[in-house]
Amino acid sequence: MLNVTEQSLAMATQLLLDGQVVAFPTETVYGLGAWAFSESGVARIYEAKGRPSDNPLIVHIAPGADLHSLVSSVPPAASALMQRFWPGPLTLIMPKGPAISPRITGGLDTVAIRMPAHPAAIRLLEVSGLPLVAPSANSSGKPSPTTARHVWEDLQGRIPLILDGGPCGVGLESTVLDLTESRPVILRPGAITQAMLEAVIGPVEVDPAVRRNALLADHVKPKAPGMKYRHYAPKGKLIITDATPEQMRAWLTPAAPQERVGVVATRQYLDKLQPDERQVTAICLGDQDNTEELAAHLFGALRKADQQGLTLIYGQALPAEGLGEALMNRFIKASSQQIWINRRK
Ligand code: TXA
Ligand code: MG
Repeated sequence: MLNVTEQSLAMATQLLLDGQVVAFPTETVYGLGAWAFSESGVARIYEAKGRPSDNPLIVHIAPGADLHSLVSSVPPAASALMQRFWPGPLTLIMPKGPAISPRITGGLDTVAIRMPAHPAAIRLLEVSGLPLVAPSANSSGKPSPTTARHVWEDLQGRIPLILDGGPCGVGLESTVLDLTESRPVILRPGAITQAMLEAVIGPVEVDPAVRRNALLADHVKPKAPGMKYRHYAPKGKLIITDATPEQMRAWLTPAAPQERVGVVATRQYLDKLQPDERQVTAICLGDQDNTEELAAHLFGALRKADQQGLTLIYGQALPAEGLGEALMNRFIKASSQQIWINRRK
């Protein structure tokens, strides 16, 4: 684990050229990078993460990099969106160029491209001069890492270098937008919301799988192959619920003695619940009126639940609007059950 300096960036560049992988910070989550044109680098990503090889990778590029070597055409909507949101947490799916290996796209004829906004990511892309494929730098099935320490916990001993750029600002992975269909479709919600996209290019659809929040069966081929895997799951059983603090208190009081119970919620919710009086672990996401803060803390909170050895975790359902849609998408994906008692599902 090294701070981002000219020296560590030079070391990272050498590793990438040698077909190695390097973890680095982005504004969304930490990425595990490899040179997009290194077969061994790409193979090492799947190996280090234990990731299924049909799940395609995002190609990360520096400001000013040549997009035309990566895609076969740039859809008209892409130009407007790149202008407005790049660098930033928006990944665009475009028709792939011939140079892009099927190992990157999982055999699809499209490729995902993103220009990250984190200064360290930009420096790495600029200093190396390489396009980098980079999935989130967690081991497959764990929450995406939002600190260098999370990466270290998951991948220590399996990768040669982690660049430490502090905690990630957004804390949820980028919005993935497919521009290869007749209408733009959000395949994964993120900090660039549907409303923000529509303000630039008009109507944008959301893939039904995002809102259904259901896990897809193995034989289904969803648009973003990553969507079919259970993600971000803590070891304990996570139940998302819209129960009020008063309602939840009744559940916590007779907590089964063999369970280690925790609650992941906003500060205001926890204040009313006072879970610690019941020997229940409180994990605070932040201020209920600050969705950015809640989003930035979600993945760390799920990791904390594991570290505390919790076996039963209640998660407070949060409003799924704006950035809240991405937040709830990840929260529900991590859960094994949802209990709605105050509204319809
Ligand atoms: O914020 C992010 O996007 C982070 C940081 C490191 O940049 N990266 C990230 O990568 O989240 P990953 O590999 O964990 O997620 C990529 C998602 C997956 O759901 C994958 O299926 C989808 O993008 N994807 C990639 N290429 C695709 C393609 N050609 N068509 C459809 N979906 C694609
Ligand atoms: Mg991931």
